[in-house]
Amino acid sequence: MDKLIITGGKQLSGELRISGAKNSALPILAGALLSETPVTIGNIPHLHDITTTMELLGRMGVQLIIDEKMNIEIDTSTIKNFEAPYELVRTMRASILVLGPLLARFGSAHVSLPGGCAIGTRPVDIHLDGLAKMGADIKVEGGYILAQAKRLKGANLVMEKITVTGTENLLMAATLAKGKTVIENAAKEPEVSDLAHFLNKMGAKITGIGTDILEIDGVDQLGAKDLHYNILPDRIETGTYLVAAAMTGGNITVKNTRPSILDAVLEKLKEAGAEISTGDDWIKLDMKGKKPQAVSVRTAPYPAFPTDMQAQFTAMNAIAEGVAVITETVFENRFMHVQEMQRMGADIQLESHNAICKGVEKLAAAPVMATDLRASASLVLAGLVAEGDTMVDRIYHIDRGYDHIEEKLAQLGAKIRRIPN
Ligand code: UD1
Repeated sequence: MDKLIITGGKQLSGELRISGAKNSALPILAGALLSETPVTIGNIPHLHDITTTMELLGRMGVQLIIDEKMNIEIDTSTIKNFEAPYELVRTMRASILVLGPLLARFGSAHVSLPGGCAIGTRPVDIHLDGLAKMGADIKVEGGYILAQAKRLKGANLVMEKITVTGTENLLMAATLAKGKTVIENAAKEPEVSDLAHFLNKMGAKITGIGTDILEIDGVDQLGAKDLHYNILPDRIETGTYLVAAAMTGGNITVKNTRPSILDAVLEKLKEAGAEISTGDDWIKLDMKGKKPQAVSVRTAPYPAFPTDMQAQFTAMNAIAEGVAVITETVFENRFMHVQEMQRMGADIQLESHNAICKGVEKLAAAPVMATDLRASASLVLAGLVAEGDTMVDRIYHIDRGYDHIEEKLAQLGAKIRRIPN
């Protein structure tokens, strides 16, 4: 397994281009299964989860052509099976996103129950309940979801809990259902909206995009000639590099991003003492060499502070001035980075879903192990400010969701290298 070695102590500065959003690319690639005609998706990030999705679609018989600019053309006319096997789904939970499209368009889906990040139990009951309400016959057997439906029918769906991929799965299923579907208490994450805009470009009839009530009038088929859709920039990647710069007292500009979808994160960075300026597609952060102030955050669904930025802010608080509390309300068990940070000298106490962080003067390098995607990133950030060489092991988690992290950090002046296995 590859490892990253980070020598701490460098102040980050310079410019960086942000990649396309993983959490948009995954549902949109799955959504392409709904199209009768080939579609091309652009601004796709170089990530292991994208490779996994391509393999998943490829095994179904879907034709994929990828060019050197990472545009992916998807042609579903050769599809021959509707299965998402365990060996792929277990490495990427988001594989569940093929369930709605397969069922809606082909009337059948055989999808392994997901594994993925070790951050809580993360069930898919809301996905399955919604599809059942739309008339699907659903069984769970041998670790697989077996779903059948002649044609899904529109339904009134009130989501018991806000779920991002749950909303996306049901949204995709509803586009081809007979009649109208209303999804209440829908997730409002920008990536859900990006998927909805993509589906509308294919001919879907979705209104209420960006709100918590999505209304979908089902159509008979989807597809648009020569459709090329560029996915939105990755707000979590953006936030991660901004926090990295803030922790090192640095000064960076991130480009090809979208500040309007990062309000909660930018507010907290300002509270930490960063000077922030923004344009349509760029964000500049300047710490003027100062240490950050500790900031308390509470994660919740969008537009509140994202759980996917929680670990990075925990890392920042570990070396900040003062005391702050990080409260995780979206996932149980999403503090596995804390133990590793403690091994680097961080003073963080866990009390149920709160992490009480008392900033220390310095972290000390240690070998650490990543346990999930964002936790891994937070350990890299901790390494940037630790004294000595921090070795982050099991970085396949990082490669799932960060496009060339070591190259991007090196571009900003970090001392970081990958040790291939
Ligand atoms: C998505 C994101 C992930 C992010 C998370 C929360 C993708 C590919 N992944 O994950 O990066 O951290 O949103 O913003 O977009 N739940 C249920 N039953 C269900 C579904 C979810 O109880 O059927 C619960 C989960 O256990 C969790 C909460 O709902 O406590 C939110 O999870 P959800 O929004 O579904 O996360 P994902 O869509 O898996």
